[in-house]
Order: sequence, then C-alpha cells, then structure tokens
Amino acid sequence: MKAAVIGLQWGDEGKGKIVTYLSRDFDCVIRYSGGSNAGHTVDYGDFKVVHHLLPSADLKKRKMMYIGPGVATDFDVLIDEIEQIDQFLPHARSLLRISKQAHVVIPVYKELDEKIDKSRLAAIGTTRRGIGLSYANRALRCGLRIQDLEDTSKAKGLIEELSRIWQVDVNAQKILEELMIRYSKIHDLLIDSLKAVKNLKDKDLLFEGTQGVLLDVDVGTYPYVTSTNCSSTGIQAGFAYPIKIDQIYGVMKAYTTRVGEGPFPTELRGEEGERLRKLGGEYGATTGRPRRCGWLDLVLLRYAVELSGCTSLILTKADILSGYEKIPICVAYKINGKIFEELDNLEFIDQVEPVYEIFDGWKTLHSKEFERFVAKIEKEIGVKFSHISTGPRVDEIIKI
Ligand code: IMP
Repeated sequence: MKAAVIGLQWGDEGKGKIVTYLSRDFDCVIRYSGGSNAGHTVDYGDFKVVHHLLPSADLKKRKMMYIGPGVATDFDVLIDEIEQIDQFLPHARSLLRISKQAHVVIPVYKELDEKIDKSRLAAIGTTRRGIGLSYANRALRCGLRIQDLEDTSKAKGLIEELSRIWQVDVNAQKILEELMIRYSKIHDLLIDSLKAVKNLKDKDLLFEGTQGVLLDVDVGTYPYVTSTNCSSTGIQAGFAYPIKIDQIYGVMKAYTTRVGEGPFPTELRGEEGERLRKLGGEYGATTGRPRRCGWLDLVLLRYAVELSGCTSLILTKADILSGYEKIPICVAYKINGKIFEELDNLEFIDQVEPVYEIFDGWKTLHSKEFERFVAKIEKEIGVKFSHISTGPRVDEIIKI
C-alpha cells in the first residue's frame, strides 16, 4: 500500500498528527518536499514533538523515516530535532535515513530570502528559512547537495561560486567548516536515493505532504506560494522514483487559516478573527506568527480536491468550533455579479465575494448539527470522510 497525506488548504491543517496516526499501518513515512518552513506538532499525550524536517512517523511504534532528495535540508534544524527526539525516544535516530542527493540550506540563503522578499513589489511573507533560495539554486544548478560535502575542496568551490552568483560576501572556509561539523553528526544516516528506493519500494509507504495545495508553486495562489510542488504531484520527483500512489488522504480544517500574505476570500478580520485564532491556537509552529483565520471555503476545497487527486477527506479541528452559535460555510463566489461554485484557476481570487450558507453550530461532535456540517461538505465535494479528528492528541480521532 502506498498512500499520501496532503493539505487541502494553505497548510497547517493538522497533517502532523494525522500522519503519526496513519503511520501505524505503514512501514515508513517519507518527506518529499519543502524544508524547515514546515512545522508539524505531534502530541503523544505524555510529550509533544515539533517536526520541521523529520517525517511525523509514530516513533513510539518504531516506524521508519526517510527524507527524500526533494527536501531542502537545514542541518541546524535537523540536528536540533534529532536531539530533541533523542530525549524522549532514544531509539528514533536509528529509524531515520536521509538522501545524499537532498540540497543543503546554507545560512546565507536565509538572509537572501529576507532580502528578496523585502525587494518585491508585494512581499510574500516567507518563513525566512531559505527555502526559495534552495530550490532556485537547484534549478540554477548551483545548489550544494549533501553528497558534495564528501569532497571538501569541491564543496568550498561551490560555496564560492554561490557567493559570486548572488554577489554576497561570505567566508567560504568558515561556512564549510561549520557544515562539516554538522555533516559528521549525520553522516551515518545518509543514503543514495536509488538505494533508498530499492529498500523501500516494496514496503508500505506513507508520503507526508507539507504546506497545502493552495501553497503549491504551480496550482496555488501564485506568487503567494511556497517554492515546491507540495501537493501530490511533487511526490515522484521528491522521492526520485515513479511510485504509484493508491490512496490520497486530503486533510482539511473545519475553518481556514493562512500565514503570510496573499488573497483569502473568507478571512475574518478584527475581533471575529482574533476569537477563532485564540480558540484554535492559530500561531505558526515554525515562526510563531499569528495565522490569519476565516470560514471554510468550499470553492477552494473543490479546487484542491480535484487537483490533488484526493480519494478521502480527513477533518480536523471541528472541536474548535464547538460552542459557536452559527457557522458560515462559503459555498460559492460572486464575481462581477455572477455566481461561481467552481474555479478553473485562482487568478481573480482577490476579487471574489464569498457567498455563505449559515449552519447551526454544535456543542459536541456527537450532535445532529455537526452531522449536517459533515454531510454538507461530502455532498458538495463529492468525496467521503475517512476520519474525523476530535482533539489534538494522536489518538483523538474517529475512523468512519
Ligand atoms: P516559504 O515556503 O518560506 O518560501 O514561504 C512562502 C509562503 O508559504 C509564505 O506565505 C509562508 O507563510 C507559507 N508557508 C510555508 N510553509 C508553510 C507551512 O508549513 N504552513 C503554512 N504556511 C507555510
């Protein structure tokens, strides 16, 4: 069995805990895109772990983790995370493998990330983790891959080349020395992508999406997106093998959030937004930034389900809305006086006016009102829910 977990909104749908829960039926969890811009909090009940680079596998159940070549790898974050997990689960390190062909995020990428964002006509509000730089350098063919560190004079030459291309003054020797200290700490975990594929392709694999379809570089709200195909289309490239995926779980929150800039038709501003932010603890796991909050948007959801090839839905954070008197759902957009239930592209997304249907709120997730909310989504989207998350802990989930 090969499956993927994909975010259907702008990330932060709660994919981390879903991956942890589902991973129990798989041998290995694989990260294929993004980098340390991602932040997944997994609450095991007795302790919490925040994953930025490590796949969110259930480490108590000794599931394997693989970081594929499509991941922008920041050594500092990686090592911090390994050390953090070591405190709770000392066996976890031995379950991890990292592709030697993955690109390394060097510290100067983060400075350039900020500089570029500030130079734009309209800032994207990136996480400043150097992700865009890493993928840009990969495409420009001047990126530094982990395997390049096997030959220090080659690696130093590549760092000097980067400094010429980007016209930044760097001390290549110092950067190299710092990278080598970290490289030596993870050297035993490295593997060639082909070898990893040979070891894994006949096993049960769960691919862990980062961000969400609406942040995908090709189909998201460009240019307010991340720099990778974080949707399901990125799996094969990021794993470096044409793997066939049997099931795509699309994770959606009962409302919508977004971090950074860009259009957001159902955004709640002022006090209403603040109420939802506080109730849902909507602050970035990576940057701590307050997330923008709004109602569920079925137009965007239809678009994301279609483009991700989603085969079943998973609902998260519906418990956060418990206690609301009325719950609006955006069912269509009004554009120049005309009503649209579906969009073929997101070009005019900043000019739409949401059309809402108002639902009665619920006190618990075992109520008729909540059932109606779930039935409405399934009817409108045409895909069934397989699971409903009922709280933050890994085991707080109902299988339907
Ligand atoms: P970057 O990926 O750091 O370049 O940021 C590009 C956009 O994607 C910004 O709006 C970020 O806030 C957003 N973004 C990146 N990673 C995440 C994530 O894990 N969750 C939510 N938004 C993200």
